Amino acid sequence: MGRIFITGDKHRTFVPLFWLAEKENLDATDVLMIAGDAGYVWDQDYPHDIESLQQIFPGTITFVDGNHENHFLLNHTQIETWNGGKVHRIGPRVLHLMRGEIYSIDGKTFFVFGGAKSSDQDRRQEGVSWWKEEEPTPMEIQYGRQQLEHHQSEIQYVITHEAPRFVRKHIQKKKSMEPQYPLPDTLEQWYFEMEKMEQFQMWYFGHMHVDQRITEKLQGVYHQFIKI
Ligand SMILES: [Fe+2]
Repeated sequence: MGRIFITGDKHRTFVPLFWLAEKENLDATDVLMIAGDAGYVWDQDYPHDIESLQQIFPGTITFVDGNHENHFLLNHTQIETWNGGKVHRIGPRVLHLMRGEIYSIDGKTFFVFGGAKSSDQDRRQEGVSWWKEEEPTPMEIQYGRQQLEHHQSEIQYVITHEAPRFVRKHIQKKKSMEPQYPLPDTLEQWYFEMEKMEQFQMWYFGHMHVDQRITEKLQGVYHQFIKI
């Protein structure tokens, strides 16, 4: 049976994956899950990056979308079903895990929700280094909430890019946040609902660039590869 590795923002870098491949005896049954800002789908050259990814990691490479992601390209790839949830097929072994989907991977059930609002938007250019689809729409949030409610007693793991709002109190180098940005509040609500559930194991988020345990069941991931 394959292993599942969870990690944080990679921003189009390959070096950490070489380290992982060197340390672990990876094979085709392993699954990598990146908690957003993977960044490999960035410009028209992305098929080369996807090829490199597949050369380094012999299993299935999956990622939740972050804010630093070419959402236009992502949203124009083919939608398929993988392990019970919808994905964008990026390459033969590379998949984008879509907002609000639920996947059952080797008997473990995951809920994922990508997206976040960039705090460096003023230094970025629309359609080149910034895409408005980074921020989940009210409809996507509603879909996520519905999915979570319907499957609350099955979900064991949650992977998001953005973090529940209270996480910011625990982070040293905080990203600035606009007051009318609903996603962190929504995630906070979802987190406290999930925390009560008996089968629920762990919630991982990226975005903050920390490897930090926040609560017993909530953890920021960045460089670390967590094996579950
Ligand atoms: Fe991010």
